[in-house]
Parts: sequence; structure tokens; C-alpha cells
Amino acid sequence: MKLSELQQMTSRGEKIAMLTCYDATFAKLMEHAGVDILLVGDSLGMVLQGAENTLNVSMHHMTYHTKSVAAGAPNTLIMADMPLGSYEHDNEAAYKNAAWLIKSGAHMVKFEGGGDRINTARYLIERGIPVCAHLGFTPQSVNQLGGYKIQGKTQESAEQILNDAKAMSDAGASFVLLEMVPAALAKKITEGIKVPTIGIGAGVDCSGQVLVIQDLLGIYTGPASKAPHEFKSPRFTKNFLQETNSIQQAVSNYVQAVKNKTFPAIEHSY
Ligand code: KIV
Repeated sequence: MKLSELQQMTSRGEKIAMLTCYDATFAKLMEHAGVDILLVGDSLGMVLQGAENTLNVSMHHMTYHTKSVAAGAPNTLIMADMPLGSYEHDNEAAYKNAAWLIKSGAHMVKFEGGGDRINTARYLIERGIPVCAHLGFTPQSVNQLGGYKIQGKTQESAEQILNDAKAMSDAGASFVLLEMVPAALAKKITEGIKVPTIGIGAGVDCSGQVLVIQDLLGIYTGPASKAPHEFKSPRFTKNFLQETNSIQQAVSNYVQAVKNKTFPAIEHSY
């Protein structure tokens, strides 16, 4: 599906179902299960490479996995993450790296942060590269944020996220992704900006939802350095494989649950 068609879904009130994807086998499965957007997320640093966070993911990793996903899903919109260090320093480098992801098969890129990043978004969009802004909890800033914490809980930080979302939408971003923010704030942002929002831990009122595929299947048990029993899945995840014995069916059930607004439920939201 094309970007413009996805944006029209929101005008019709239809929810967007997005999942992370890192290889051709899952890409094909997801395309046939009706997933609207495949995100080649830098979460691959955690779920594929076993790291504690996403900070060591490189452009080489991202382009390798983007090519694999593009090979498996020729008819689905592919969004690729810009890894830490690939876009923050200067706009020319950001453009060069974004173009590398597009040449690898992505249709658009996502990067984290508001503030100075609004200028970066504008620079890429003016040069024909569609952008998704990632706001709220931004995993590449995990050290600065002091861990995996909900963002936008104080009035000041809620206003900051709302203003960044508005500025990104005005700059021409195609989507705003909201991670781990109170559901009420995500609703306010969704109603207050011109472009669709995609939520993860942001409540049911976003225009669409995203999950990490390993979380949807209930198979992620934390970094390689920790024992599985030490890991507690984040509140916003749901194991869709528990209700079926087929991965294809679990993915379809997720798509249906997003479309009929039964996922995320209150227990998955903040
Ligand atoms: O990298 C990723 O998978 C993401 C999602 C958590 C939204 O950015």
C-alpha cells in the first residue's frame, strides 16, 4: 500500500497495523496477513543481536535487514529506522544515510526526537524522503532518560511532546510515532495534528499501533546477559501466539485486534 493510501485510511477512521520486521520470511508472512507497514526497527539490536539497548546498531545492520524485508514484501510500505549517530550531527549526513536506506528498499525513514530534529525532518522531506517522527520514549536516549520510563507525565513534558508532534506534522512528517506516553496525551496529540499517529504503549486512540514481532509472539526474554526469568515484558506488549498455534494466525489476530480497537486494551496502556 502506498503512503497516501495509508494516510487516507486514517481519514476513513480505519486503524493502521504496523509490526517490526527484520527478514524476508517474516516480511512475506506479514504482507499476506494484512500488516499495513513493516518497520525495520533498530530494536534489532536487542531482539536479533542480544544487546541491552539499540545503541550499537549501525547503518550496515539497518541496510542489510532493510534489503531482506524488501525482498520478502514487495507490496507493503517499509519504514526503516535511522540508527544512533546516523542523523543527529548534520543534515547532509542524515540525507546520505536516509538515501542509503531508501536505496536498500525502504519507502521512508524514522528517527527519534523533536527539537533540532524538526529541521532534519524538513531537510529530508524537501529532498523527497518521507519521514516518521518518533517521540515520547526514545530508546536511543535511554541513558539520558535514565531507563525505560513513561514520558509526558508532567504537564511540562506533555506540552513538549505535543509541541514537537505539531512541529513535525507542520514540517511535513508523514507519521508521528508515540512510545510509552499516557493514553490521554496520545489522544490529544492524535486529535491535534494533521498526520496519523502510531502508538506503542500510547493507548487505543492513536491512528495505528506497532509492536515488536518477538513481543507479539511472546518469545523475547530480555538481553543475552540476563536469565529469562529475570525479564518482565513491558505492559504494552501482548502475546498473540497464546491464543493460537500458528504464527500466521497470531499476526492476523493482531491486525484484526488493531483494526477493531480491541488492542491495546486498558491493561496495555498508561
Ligand atoms: O526499533 C523499533 O522497533 C521501534 C519500535 C519500538 C517502535 O522503534
